[in-house]
Amino acid sequence: DKGDYDYFMLKEIHEQPKTIEETFRGRLQNNYSEIVLGGLLNVFPKLEAARRIVIIGCGTSWHAGLIAEYLFEEYAQVSVEVEYASEFRYRKPVLSSQDVVILISQSGETADTLAALELAKSKGATAIGICNVVGSSLARETEAGVYTHAGVEIGVASTKAFTAQVTVLTMIALKLAKRKGTISGEDYKMLVKELAEVPEKGRAILADGEKIKNIAEKYQKAVNALYLGRGYLFPVALEGALKLKEISYIHAEGYAAGEMKHGPIALVDNNLPVVVVAPQDDYYEKVVSNIQEVKARKGNVIAIVTEGDKGVKELVNDSIEIPKSHPAVAPLLAVIPLQLMAYHIALLKGCNVDQPRNLAKSVTVE
Ligand code: M6R
Repeated sequence: DKGDYDYFMLKEIHEQPKTIEETFRGRLQNNYSEIVLGGLLNVFPKLEAARRIVIIGCGTSWHAGLIAEYLFEEYAQVSVEVEYASEFRYRKPVLSSQDVVILISQSGETADTLAALELAKSKGATAIGICNVVGSSLARETEAGVYTHAGVEIGVASTKAFTAQVTVLTMIALKLAKRKGTISGEDYKMLVKELAEVPEKGRAILADGEKIKNIAEKYQKAVNALYLGRGYLFPVALEGALKLKEISYIHAEGYAAGEMKHGPIALVDNNLPVVVVAPQDDYYEKVVSNIQEVKARKGNVIAIVTEGDKGVKELVNDSIEIPKSHPAVAPLLAVIPLQLMAYHIALLKGCNVDQPRNLAKSVTVE
């Protein structure tokens, strides 16, 4: 049931503050100061001792894994690799019982991800599943896991399942860091609080979502688009580009902003929209210079900025504000305007946003 919305995708985008709360429910305890993940209790000792964590997924779930790489390294001080299931399953990966593999899948039925799970298990690695569909193959065949509780996702373009995955991965990273003693008590509390504040901030972005329609109108005729971000927001740039290409059929590429000068800058001209995720974090100055490089070549920049930002705003063609947050939780907020922009552009182009051509919700064959 689409409720008050014309499309499932729009409904699911708007559900996110609520679904993120569902993902926390029962897991952020003691007045939101402690994380409890019942489904991982018996594997936490293995996670703590892990020589390495390998995160595996496809598409949007792989992007969630990339965000987790930054989280696990920064807070739990463990080495992480993020792999496409379709590649991993046919490689000769070096894995042992000292490795923990985390498989991410909304459906829990993606053929490549399930094959990667079998390979990891055959090498003796501990396998943890993060999935949305209760009782799915991934949930049944992993040793332990966490459900995302995002509710049924109908839109082929994944939205609320992504933010739920990132929420779960953030909780795992912080809990692991706490258990390993690699995070201070103060930072742990501060980050749990930041996470708990995401739904409210998400609501503020959605309440202002109409403005994105006007931006979509300006860029609906684009043939190509470039998405840039750094750090925690590099995977968000990849996810923004994937959303646009899936539902509007505009060719879009996501890039780490620092890589722009190694190739994609050659694409920049006055026809190219460049979406830059540029909130006020440690990378701000660097991202500002990336924006200047694009503007000097007459590219059109659409920037995602921190509320009240002036520096970026005066450089760019269009900007969308998001509330200030800690960089570690910023992906959960920054992705929302990118989902909405893809949605509005696709709608203006007359595309079927819920059922894009050539795509299936769950890829159960190779
Ligand atoms: O169900 P899964 O999370 O395993 O699906 C993985 C991908 O097929 C999926 O994320 C796909 O890329 C989406 N259409 C992205 O919007």
